Amino acid sequence: MKWVVETTDLSKFYDGIKAVERLNLRIKEGEIYGLLGPNGAGKTTTILMLLGLTEPTSGKALVYGYNSTTEPLKVKRVTGYLPENVGFYEDLTARETLRYIARLNGIPDKRSSSRIDELLKVVGLHEVADWEVGKFSRGMRQRLGIAAVLVKDPKFVILDEPTSGIDPEGARHILELIRKMSREQNITVLLSSHLLYQVQRICDRVGIVSEGHLVAEGSVDQLGRETAGESRAILEVQVEDLKPELLDSIRRIEGVREVSSSADILSIKCDRDLRREISKVIVDSGTLPLQIRSRDYTLEEIYIRYFQRG
Ligand SMILES: Nc1ncnc2c1ncn2[C@@H]1O[C@H](COP(=O)(O)OP(=O)(O)OP(=O)(O)O)[C@@H](O)[C@H]1O
Ligand SMILES: [Mg+2]
Repeated sequence: MKWVVETTDLSKFYDGIKAVERLNLRIKEGEIYGLLGPNGAGKTTTILMLLGLTEPTSGKALVYGYNSTTEPLKVKRVTGYLPENVGFYEDLTARETLRYIARLNGIPDKRSSSRIDELLKVVGLHEVADWEVGKFSRGMRQRLGIAAVLVKDPKFVILDEPTSGIDPEGARHILELIRKMSREQNITVLLSSHLLYQVQRICDRVGIVSEGHLVAEGSVDQLGRETAGESRAILEVQVEDLKPELLDSIRRIEGVREVSSSADILSIKCDRDLRREISKVIVDSGTLPLQIRSRDYTLEEIYIRYFQRG
């Protein structure tokens, strides 16, 4: 197995204050890995150490086998990085910006120009390619940022909060773009985020960091099963008329662990599929189940549970 990222007890303290502690991260070739955690969890610090932009206090980081601290230039050659707050020259156009970045990476205009046209199309900016970036919205800048990362044909891409400050539709577009580029060009992706429900669709694996520690890791499905523990299923039931007494009756069914409600939907966590028993109780209470469906845990729920355990 060839690891794109391999860290060993990677730690960073700022003036004795912990930012990252004993992080052991492994990312496979071609996978999309989501580093998730709340503000201040250590995501950006981890990324900066991988890129050799900040030095670990102890432990080490390898990217494609190159040591991030002692061989940062080799790491940079194969890695594209979109920082948390990407800045562009406001008076350059999108196309000029990409050309400038290509030049910085030693790619002559002759070679970059068709690639730039293609990238502008990929990220959906071809129609505004000749606008000055100063006129771009946040979502357009972020898409330009992704194109900028791809100009040098990286094998590995690190995106720090690629969807922050972008509306849901724009975020969906950017995430789809990331997934598409990863799948089509076999690019390995590490992205950080605290917007769990958004990224869960595109990540092959996620790592949840809290206070500098990796507290959970796996596919979203795996984490869901672990979180679920004994309660195996979540049923969502829409009832015609939701009375408080009904919640109590359902709670009394053997195998039901937790019942909550919002509007006319009941959310029931249970040990096994109790659809029949629950329907019967609902009918007996004098109302009707309009819809029953079972669903898996969302990453949001998984995440909240990990932090509640603390
Ligand atoms: N240059 C620095 N000097 C001192 N402390 C820092 C520095 N950079 C980060 N920290 C601290 O390290 C911890 C981790 O910060 P980091 O920026 O890595 O978190 P993050 O997970 O990226 O958060 P966010 O979601 O807000 O971007 C925080 O407590 C932060 O205050
Ligand atoms: Mg950050």
